[in-house]
Amino acid sequence: MAKPRIALIGGGHIGATIAQLAAQRELGQVILYDVIPGLPQGKALDLAEAAPIFGFDLQISGANDMACIAGADMVVVTAGIARKPGMDRDDLVVVNARIMAEVARGIRCYAPQAIVLVVSNPLDAMVTLCQRLTGFSSRRVFGMAGVLDSARFASFIAWELGVSVRDIHAPVLGGHGDTMVPIVRFANVNGIPVMDLLLRKYAGDQEKAQEVMAALVARTQNAGGEVVELLQTGSAFVSPAASAVTMIEAVLNDQKRLLPACALLNGEFGVRGYYVGVPCILGAGGVEQIVEFPLNDEEQRMFNDSVTTIRNLVDHLPVE
Ligand code: LAC
Repeated sequence: MAKPRIALIGGGHIGATIAQLAAQRELGQVILYDVIPGLPQGKALDLAEAAPIFGFDLQISGANDMACIAGADMVVVTAGIARKPGMDRDDLVVVNARIMAEVARGIRCYAPQAIVLVVSNPLDAMVTLCQRLTGFSSRRVFGMAGVLDSARFASFIAWELGVSVRDIHAPVLGGHGDTMVPIVRFANVNGIPVMDLLLRKYAGDQEKAQEVMAALVARTQNAGGEVVELLQTGSAFVSPAASAVTMIEAVLNDQKRLLPACALLNGEFGVRGYYVGVPCILGAGGVEQIVEFPLNDEEQRMFNDSVTTIRNLVDHLPVE
């Protein structure tokens, strides 16, 4: 059977890292597109020449003409400029919305059957734009952020508790910005609530445990910015790429994974008509289900605040 075709729009750090991870997992043929002459061709050639070492046997190509994405089963959009120190993701909206407008037209024209995963920032607004401009069903257009934000939350919890990251589940919902919503109530180490383990660590001191958790939550909400400040010349790319590949694999291998994804809500969690990070079943159909569950009052308040931030951006998108 023919291998799936994965088209990566944007040959920057995240796109190139997705190409490498997808190739190493043999998820499909990889097509890398970028507007910069030679860049996608060079990165694709370099990766293809690593095949005998890694042992993957795939076609990997790069091009500057969007026609190269023709027949793609999955399109992943990372195109756009990244943040510089001191910038908010929302500061990218004007430039990246123009880029997304071009990209969406190309996807609609060359890959009308594709499932589209958006990674570009500001994430929630870029997914919205991509869905509106392609006109694709919202099941086929969704965004990556919650997997990344949850991985960051899990990492910080693991470091605090001195346990393996492998045993931690720590979902983060809401928008991919400072108002994202780590669901502390569900954060657990193989089923044991993280708050109980913090209380154990701090000898039953409630106040200290809450203070430590508040710091873990705040670090998660600012985790992208923390990397930007350190790098000075770009934003995170390994963890975003790994997160995107997890979602690509869920779709191409029809895994029915329950992962946080940025999906269009139609009344779930009290929201209609906006893309927000929520638990979804991801499979061959894209977002096959949005999994709603009762939020407590504090979580709902945080979720609503996050939606307000998204709404303020999306209702003023510079491209329609
Ligand atoms: C981050 C970017 C990818 O959170 O949004 O690092």
